[in-house]
Amino acid sequence: MDRFHIVGGSPLRGEVIISGSKNSALPILFSSLLGGGLEIANVPSLRDIRTAFSLLSQLGIRAEPLFSENPEEKNGRWSSSPSKDGWVERYRLSEDSISAHEAPYDLVRTMRASILCLGPLLARRKRARVSLPGGCLIGARPVDIHLNAFVRMGAKISIDHGYIDAHTSGLTGCDIHLPYPTVTGTENILMAATLARGVTRIFNAAQEPEVNDLAISLNARGAHIEGIGTSSLKISGVDSLVDGSHTVMSDRIEAGTFLVAGALLGDFLTIRNVDVSCLETLLGTLRDMGANFEEKDGSISISRILKPRGTSARTEPYPGFPTDMQAQILPLMAIAEGPSTVVETVFENRFTHVMEMNRMGANIDIHGSRAFVRGGAGLEGASVMASDLRASAGLVLAALIAKGESEIQRVYHIDRGYEKIETKLESIGARIKRVRGEEIS
Ligand code: EPZ
Repeated sequence: MDRFHIVGGSPLRGEVIISGSKNSALPILFSSLLGGGLEIANVPSLRDIRTAFSLLSQLGIRAEPLFSENPEEKNGRWSSSPSKDGWVERYRLSEDSISAHEAPYDLVRTMRASILCLGPLLARRKRARVSLPGGCLIGARPVDIHLNAFVRMGAKISIDHGYIDAHTSGLTGCDIHLPYPTVTGTENILMAATLARGVTRIFNAAQEPEVNDLAISLNARGAHIEGIGTSSLKISGVDSLVDGSHTVMSDRIEAGTFLVAGALLGDFLTIRNVDVSCLETLLGTLRDMGANFEEKDGSISISRILKPRGTSARTEPYPGFPTDMQAQILPLMAIAEGPSTVVETVFENRFTHVMEMNRMGANIDIHGSRAFVRGGAGLEGASVMASDLRASAGLVLAALIAKGESEIQRVYHIDRGYEKIETKLESIGARIKRVRGEEIS
């Protein structure tokens, strides 16, 4: 298992370029199961993306990597022969066979987002057998809302031997009121409704920018989705999709993570390839803590907050404060003057990083879904254990500001969702090294 060795305290300056969004790329990749060819660009090179390709290949989707003839030039020419450095961020996906319909436990276990194959498989192949994702460290994370919607659309669903077994003679559009604006639930229903008979309306739909990106990519391939960006989506089913292309949006959570790094240690750190409009709530919280930003043409610059002030944040569905940024904001709150509070409303157990941050000198108490941060801490380097993707990012930030050396164990979590994080951090002045360990399967 690889680990990071970090020496804290170095200022961060220069530019960092944000990669394509993992949580947008994943549903769009799974939407290739709906048929029609898809050329997809700005795909981040991540562990979860490789897992999605493995599953898609088992489900009969061929993914051909396209290589840039000039890696510096994103809009340049692309070909199927490897470029000199093998640089790849673009793929052409097409159906090889439409007979497979099973997502096995081995793959679903390593990536819960595999559930996103259920909607497209049901709509296109009329049959799906998908391992039921178990609970995970951050919460129970059931998929009841996805399944209830598919039943309403005409699917027959049973659970046997840990698998969701679903079949239909054809999905039919209907009105679906979501009891909670689940992100992957909305995406799954959206994809299924694309090929359903008639009109589907999703009320209380998730409004996360990644849901919009999926909807835009589907419309580019012939789907009829209205209301994109609102909580009411109207999907008029079509018989089939056509060939189309899409560029994945930039990763707002990676951008947010670098923004907090800049608030902690920036010396005019510039973050490029950012859609600032997706970051308003986080920017508001950072402003409350004393940050100033300079925005220009898809980039944002930030310097260290000299005297960060305590504040409060409450995680909520978009456009609220993102749960995926909760672990990263805590080190800034830990060193701020005055107390802060964080209320986690999305997942019931997403504070596993707090114990590790407290071992580094933070003073954070957890009471149920609330974290009370006393503030004023001087963090010190320590050996700590990453427990999930965003928790790892929070610990990396804590180690960057801590005095002395830290070891972050189990960084395979961070490799699921941050492209080349140590290379990017090193390029802006952080002292971070990956220490190689045994490969994780
Ligand atoms: C997506 O997870 C993201 N994953 C998560 O990113 C993110 O934290 C989360 O949305 C919230 O923004 C992907 O996009 C691949 P939800 P998802 O369904 O869709 C409950 C990361 O670090 N719920 O919106 O699984 C659920 O238990 C990750 O990149 C039900 O009760 O989240 C949770 O408490 C982790 N029944 C809440 O809703 C359901 O059927 C929100 O979950 C579905 C969800």
